[in-house]
Amino acid sequence: MKENHSASRRDFMALSGAALAAGTLIPNQLSANENAKPLAPDSLFSSPVILQNPTENSITAAWTLSNFATGWIEWGTAPDKLDQKACGAKYGLKPYSNRVIQVTINGLKPNTTYFYRAAASAVDFRGAYDIRPAGETEFTKVLSFTTPGPNANSASFAVVNDTHHVQDVMALEFAKIRELKPDYTFWNGDSVNSVEGHEMLLKNVIFPANCEVANDHPLLFVRGNHDTRGHWARYYPEYFTPWKQDDPEFDDLGYSFVVRHGDLAMIGLDTGEDKPDFRKEWGGLAEFEPYIAKQGEWLKKVLNSEKVKTAKFVVAFCHIPLFDPRPGANPGTLETGHSAWKKLGADFWGPALQDAGVQLVVAAHVHRHRIDEPTPERCWTQITGGGCSMKDATVIHGAIVDGKLKVTTYFAATGEVLSERTFEPRA
Ligand SMILES: [Fe+2]
Repeated sequence: MKENHSASRRDFMALSGAALAAGTLIPNQLSANENAKPLAPDSLFSSPVILQNPTENSITAAWTLSNFATGWIEWGTAPDKLDQKACGAKYGLKPYSNRVIQVTINGLKPNTTYFYRAAASAVDFRGAYDIRPAGETEFTKVLSFTTPGPNANSASFAVVNDTHHVQDVMALEFAKIRELKPDYTFWNGDSVNSVEGHEMLLKNVIFPANCEVANDHPLLFVRGNHDTRGHWARYYPEYFTPWKQDDPEFDDLGYSFVVRHGDLAMIGLDTGEDKPDFRKEWGGLAEFEPYIAKQGEWLKKVLNSEKVKTAKFVVAFCHIPLFDPRPGANPGTLETGHSAWKKLGADFWGPALQDAGVQLVVAAHVHRHRIDEPTPERCWTQITGGGCSMKDATVIHGAIVDGKLKVTTYFAATGEVLSERTFEPRA
């Protein structure tokens, strides 16, 4: 079996190389054509919608396709009044793909519920002047979402992490999230082992274990070290839209974000790879260190913005922990081994988190649920989620209840409560 696989892989590489040389094929098209599986028989949709990048005035919807199509979003303030249309055009071109469509809806108001449906319509693209609609337009069911903003009466989030392709664990985790009905779902990194194609992203991130993850509330994706690996890591932005920053100075920080919802400010930070940039494993292609330093400049500004300063609760989410209590734990700066914690993140972000009185850091990566209590030098509690095996997978849930932030960690396999912590508002 292994030999056959190797042979077919060699054939594939030869075909790709020849076709690329001839200018007739791009690798991602080939992969999508090989892997396309419709959501229902003959459907153009191969996944539900994933809502992402929520701001007070906009949100992005992404979904995958089983064949070449265009797509758009119809939306409005009532389920029977979808009188607005977002066509997703970028630089003058409407979407056209056989893999994934992203459409951003603009012009929204804060703390407002909207209704929407996604559309996909086949296109027979015969040539530059011969482009024809090809078949009936398909629509998803009508769904809703609510925009962020400081005036929400409640706020909640749920977190999964380190899923690493394990389908039965993801099924349990997302079933628990369906039950909890959070305002936001965080995927705190390491969705896959390395990013190696459309089908891998579809099965393990966009439509994991055939679960509807985020078509009625946003998914906030926080990159893990494994999400930065593989041939397709650089295609991630096609599926998970980089965030647009308020300050153009930080436009290259696509996976650092802040969302304010009611009394809660949620900040996403990208800890990058788990070894220093100089390590030979990266073949000279990694430059995470200046990226983490720049996130430190961004974080200082964000923590001092009105959006965050006025929030009673601030929670930061990052994949690699910013602290490890174990003496000798690898800080991610060494010539051997890999990070147990991210010293660079602690150095560049820690003082700002401390100055702002951030109450909680939710991390992942160590595949073990752990609570690091605050100390006189470190005001924030750190909670790490468990790993991808049935024996330690977790769902972390946070909600503001009676003026306090209550954080509960559930054992995914049984729903048993593993830990509870309650946080007071910031002084
Ligand atoms: Fe990790």
